[in-house]
Amino acid sequence: MQQLSVRHLLGIKNLTENDIQLILETAREFKDVINRPIKKVPSLRDITIANVFFENSTRTRLSFELAEKRLSADVVNFSASGSSVKKGETLLDTVNNILAMKVDMIVMRHASPGAPHYLSDRIMANVVNAGDGTHEHPTQALLDSFSIQDKLGDVAGKRVAIIGDILHSRVALSNIFCLQKQGAEVMVCGPTTLIPKHINELGVKVSHDVREALNWCDVANVLRIQLERQQIKYFPSLREYSLYYGITKKMLDELDRPIVLMHPGPINRGVELTSDAADSHHSIILDQVENGVAVRMAVLYLLAQM
Ligand code: CP
Repeated sequence: MQQLSVRHLLGIKNLTENDIQLILETAREFKDVINRPIKKVPSLRDITIANVFFENSTRTRLSFELAEKRLSADVVNFSASGSSVKKGETLLDTVNNILAMKVDMIVMRHASPGAPHYLSDRIMANVVNAGDGTHEHPTQALLDSFSIQDKLGDVAGKRVAIIGDILHSRVALSNIFCLQKQGAEVMVCGPTTLIPKHINELGVKVSHDVREALNWCDVANVLRIQLERQQIKYFPSLREYSLYYGITKKMLDELDRPIVLMHPGPINRGVELTSDAADSHHSIILDQVENGVAVRMAVLYLLAQM
């Protein structure tokens, strides 16, 4: 049986091309499973997984929980609000207490970049990064690649534009690594203030013109403005952002070839995307969510073999 080169999924940066391929191929088998009348397999029957979320989440948290249940794992859920973290307990103490209850794997979302890396150096259980601050969101990038494969047949050779708040986005960085490792070309697009200064060192094209980005790409992956991570004003108003960077269905319809519209969610309707664009035939946003369960099943299944 093929195995991953890593014991933890901390980011895409430290995965090999083979790792990515293996995860996506395994996810394809699990997608068949979750579309059967009986959606459950016994693969992780004796494994207990804790979903430890220090930041809000809808998609990632539910998707991991469903993936774990479809694999027959035992699942416990922890959220910082309402926990003893509020009484001053450290991250490591919190996780060590969870592990003392015989938990085998930790899926963690945390506001601090590097928090899952810190944990993985200090605990025996496998760690899965479900988003660490502005750093990485590896399972989102994997499910995005899976969704591109589903729609366009392959990721290699495709042009993907990531449009929006690149500066504060963990989805952008994981996607850049994941797409490039598979042979796609990547462009980032947004206002100068929301594009990291040295991003071209990652080998991506940079544009500040959303129409140029849409005309260039096969896939537009649109990101929201992460106001919760912004301590200063990066642009005058959401209305002005929307005027210059918001994408409408009309803009997509007027392109001279098909385009695939993606968004990791949550969408701020009327800011980065109008509702008619988000709900149009160009959009695969809900397919991404469906594929997330299969991809997370693959990640958990493969890590449990390590
Ligand atoms: N895409 C994503 O990470 O969404 P949530 O924040 O709802 O998990």
